[in-house]
Amino acid sequence: VNHLLGIKYLNEKDIELIFETADHFKEVINRPIKKVPSLRDITIANLFFENSTRTKLSFELAEKRLSADVINFSSGQSSVKKGETLVDTVNNILSMKVDMVVMRHPNPGAGVFLSKHVDASIINAGDGAHEHPTQALLDSYSIREKLGEVKGKKVVIVGDILHSRVALSNIFALQLQGAEVMVCGPKTLIPKYIDKLGVKVETNLLKALNWCNVANMLRVQNERMDISYFPSTREYTQQYGVNKELLDNLDKEITIMHPGPINRGVEITSDVADSKQAIILDQVQNGVAVRMAVIYLLASKIKQ
Ligand code: CP
Repeated sequence: VNHLLGIKYLNEKDIELIFETADHFKEVINRPIKKVPSLRDITIANLFFENSTRTKLSFELAEKRLSADVINFSSGQSSVKKGETLVDTVNNILSMKVDMVVMRHPNPGAGVFLSKHVDASIINAGDGAHEHPTQALLDSYSIREKLGEVKGKKVVIVGDILHSRVALSNIFALQLQGAEVMVCGPKTLIPKYIDKLGVKVETNLLKALNWCNVANMLRVQNERMDISYFPSTREYTQQYGVNKELLDNLDKEITIMHPGPINRGVEITSDVADSKQAIILDQVQNGVAVRMAVIYLLASKIKQ
């Protein structure tokens, strides 16, 4: 398969190969010269139909460190505003001899749809509330780096599970690697299909934190909600926000993760986000090496 559309299309061996390749690129980007010439013959288009800071810049940097040619597209400044369709937009870009497309889109399944209609390798950089595969890969890679391995670890994903592509991709990735997964949040933000995913469900944050080795804190995605799912931000913070006092009262030190962007003082306080327990910026740093690995491995298949 010449795409990365979701973690659900991967197996454990795929993830191992991505991580071994990422280990190599992590060493490369810590050298004084952070580039390798591997993809001088590949052109990549980064298509963002939805806002992004980390994913967009991380992909661009990963591509440049592999020496690929890169073009960037943001739908807000494009002819999408004049009514051009997704397939027409991408086919026009591909006709400029582009080999690979990285796409973020608000619609779940946009990457799968595109992969059936255009002739290029597609990487899903987040499709609505569906999947964000490279985020889940960099999250697991960061757990592996911090705790030695993912297998056997207990990971709780806290917050707005219902609207989170990070949650779904993380559930798939963690389970493939043999971790135990729990989701924790208000009932209104836990999807009905959760029972089918083989994860534990907990509505009490303290119980969840006492159970886990790692807590991945999610942002409440107000932009994906038509109505208010939870009475108020203040109540959310009281029941589901992590703060230093809460963590200090646990009987063990847990690792705190967050995919970003953070809403400081809502799901996480600054004294936790900026503490040694948090690996939030390590996640961002690892994202470049993991994305280099994904792009390199897909590009190797294009070249065959
Ligand atoms: N984690 C993540 O996807 O962040 P951005 O929305 O800034 O890309």
